[in-house]
Order: sequence, then structure tokens, then C-alpha cells
Amino acid sequence: MATRALLLVRGARLVTAGGSFAADLAAHDGRFVHVGPVGSFDGVADATLDADGLTALPGLVDVHAHFREPGVHAHKGTYASESRAAAAGGVTCVLTMPNTNPFTNTVAQLEVVRECARRSVIDYGFHFMADGDNLAEMLAVRNVAAHKLYLNETTGITSPLADEARLRGLLATGLPFMAHAEGDTLNMLLAAHAQWGTGPLHIGHVALAREVEALRRARAAGQWVTAEASPHHLFLDETDAARLGPLGDMRPTLKTADDVTALWAGIADGTIDAVATDHAPHLLSDKQRVPAPPGVPGIQTMLPLLLDAAAAGRLSLADIARLTSRAPAAIFGLQGKGAVRVGQDADLVLVDPSAESTITNADQLTMPGWTPFDGRRVRGTVLRTLRRGEWIWADGAIQGEAGGVEVVVGR
Ligand code: NCD
Ligand code: ZN
Repeated sequence: MATRALLLVRGARLVTAGGSFAADLAAHDGRFVHVGPVGSFDGVADATLDADGLTALPGLVDVHAHFREPGVHAHKGTYASESRAAAAGGVTCVLTMPNTNPFTNTVAQLEVVRECARRSVIDYGFHFMADGDNLAEMLAVRNVAAHKLYLNETTGITSPLADEARLRGLLATGLPFMAHAEGDTLNMLLAAHAQWGTGPLHIGHVALAREVEALRRARAAGQWVTAEASPHHLFLDETDAARLGPLGDMRPTLKTADDVTALWAGIADGTIDAVATDHAPHLLSDKQRVPAPPGVPGIQTMLPLLLDAAAAGRLSLADIARLTSRAPAAIFGLQGKGAVRVGQDADLVLVDPSAESTITNADQLTMPGWTPFDGRRVRGTVLRTLRRGEWIWADGAIQGEAGGVEVVVGR
């Protein structure tokens, strides 16, 4: 019997972490039912998109984003608003952070978060707060990607958990952890994890050359540690911080040009596995207060910036697929995500890698409506985003309402 598909995407050059070819990509009931060379689909499709001349990448998986719901910071960003920005940037799955107010540190509170997340247009999963006093909740909670250790001060975190004795007990549980750990704190954490850790540890937003070096050594020694870099640390440095003021202030702060070079070297040699946004929406009015809260939006601009870097020869499109989809899905065991393959979720982004555009505040769909990259010319434009077989971004607009579901964490 001929394969039936709700949607056929015909002729795009499919680039995955493994290679590229002109493809027929068919989706039905949210999953890929056919992935093959152009012309190879001989089934029946209800709708066909002629994507000749476009490039298809796996939908991006952003494993580090702050969607401010539920709680007192919901005016900075909601699952509805920030997921739309994500869709416009080719992101089809997000893992959100627990430094909401109140923290997401109990099983009951995570249920409240889950209710908010139903309004997301993209798929989602959650990081859970490890606050040092909630081990019973951490052991009871179901289907979280990782337990977040905040070991430095940042938005919402005034007394970080940088206490080695408490860390030992947590790391010895073997639960998956993700850490905000900068500089010397990272060294302390890596040493504690090397000695006491029995599970995986993921390091958020690596920013300093010496952090890259510490991770390189840890990995060479076989430590179960992975790492991500954020676009603002790859594409901005301390000179931009001086220019941008509060709009260029985040934790970690922007670093020197040498640190940026070291980050790219860490990406090139695999020390840094993934790129993740640390999307941290704050309104312009928040940023005008003194002191201003650290953090910048980034979920809509990650892919255009990476495409521009690819156009400049800094990395390949296959690298982008690996760094933003395959590796992040693999690190957290996100079922159905990270690959364009029959049976996997039909998540795709169609881009024109050579079309130039300008990143502007006016185009940002985030609640804050600004970006530190305002005015930057980039080569590479996100044209369409497909989430489980449905277009959620096309023709410069969000398509449909909500529809995102919770991803299953299977590691
Ligand atoms: C984040 C925020 O605003 O929630 N801010 C930031 O500067 N990165 C918190 C964090 O991830 O550190
Ligand atoms: Zn963060």
C-alpha cells in the first residue's frame, strides 16, 4: 500500500549532523514516514511544499531558556510569547529553567509550570531546581531533563549553592545535573564531580578560555561531563558590553576576544558539545533599573547568527545541526528529537543560507521586544519551522495556536 502522508517537503537540501542531500521528507501524524532522495517518495501526500533551493535542518533543540512562567516574572515572558519567538528562530523544542519566582523546586510546583507550558507552540521539557534542601523532591519528580545547580549569583539567585559538602551529597545521587558554574567555581565543581559524581553533568554557558581548558582536561580524563556555549558569548565580547550597557549584561558576562576565540576552538575540537541560548527575557524597563537584572533574549537570533557564521566559513551547516539538535537531544535523552529519520518527530527548519537580512528589535517576538544584536546584518534567513508535522512559522508569521507537548526524557 502506498505510504500516506499529510505533508511532503520536496527538494530541500537536507543537512544533518551526518551529511547532506536533496531530499523528499514526508510526515504523518507528527513523525517522519519517509526520508530519502528527492523523487523517492511515491506515496500519497495531502499537501506538498516545493522546497527546491532551500536548506532543511533538524528543528533546533534549545536546552537552556528562561520562560518566566509561572510567577511574579510572567510579565517578562510566557510560554506563549517566548515559544513564538523560538519558532521564528527555528527552535522546535526547549528545555526551560527553574529560576522562576517561585522556584520550580517541588513536584507540586512543576505541575503548575506544566499547566503554563501547555500554551507553548513548540515542544518543551524542564530543568528542576536543586536548591540544596529539596532532595526528596528531586528524587520524586518525574520526566525532568536535569537538576539545575546555581553555583554563582545571577537573576533570582542570591545565595548560590557553592558549598562543596552539600554538592558531594547531590552529585553522589547519580541524578543528571546541569550547572551554572563560572571560573574557579567550575574547577571546584569538576573536582567534586570527578570524586563523588556517579551521573552526568552538563555545564551551562561556558564563557572563559580557562573554563574551556578545564573541560578539555576533564573530558580527556574520561569524566561524564558535557558543555554548551551561548550565542552571545560566541558573537559578542567585552567591547560590545561597553557599547550595550545593561542590554549587554548577562551571567556569565561578555568576555575578551581571546576568550571568544577559545570558545570557537572548543567547538571545533568537541570540548563544547552544544550551543544553547540562555534566553533570559527582561523588559527594557527592567533593564533601566539600577542595578539591572542580568540576562538577554536570544532564542530567535541563535540560528540566524550561526547561519551567518557558516556563511563566513567558521563552521559548517552540519556542525550547526550537530550543535543545536543532535547533541542537545542526546545529552538529555530527548525522545524523538535531534534527528531527521523515519519514526522521529517531524521537526524541521527551512532556511535560505544565503539570504541576507538585518536583525532588528522590531522583528523580535519575545515579550521584551529587543535583542543585543539589533542592527546586525546576517547571511541566513529562517523561512519555515515545522513542529511534529505542522508549520508553526511560515511567511513571516506564527501559524496556529499552542500545540507544543512535553518531550519524554529517556536517559
Ligand atoms: C538568567 C536569567 O535572567 O534568568 N540571567 C543570565 O544573565 N543568564 C539566569 C542565568 O541563567 O544565569
Ligand atoms: Zn540561564
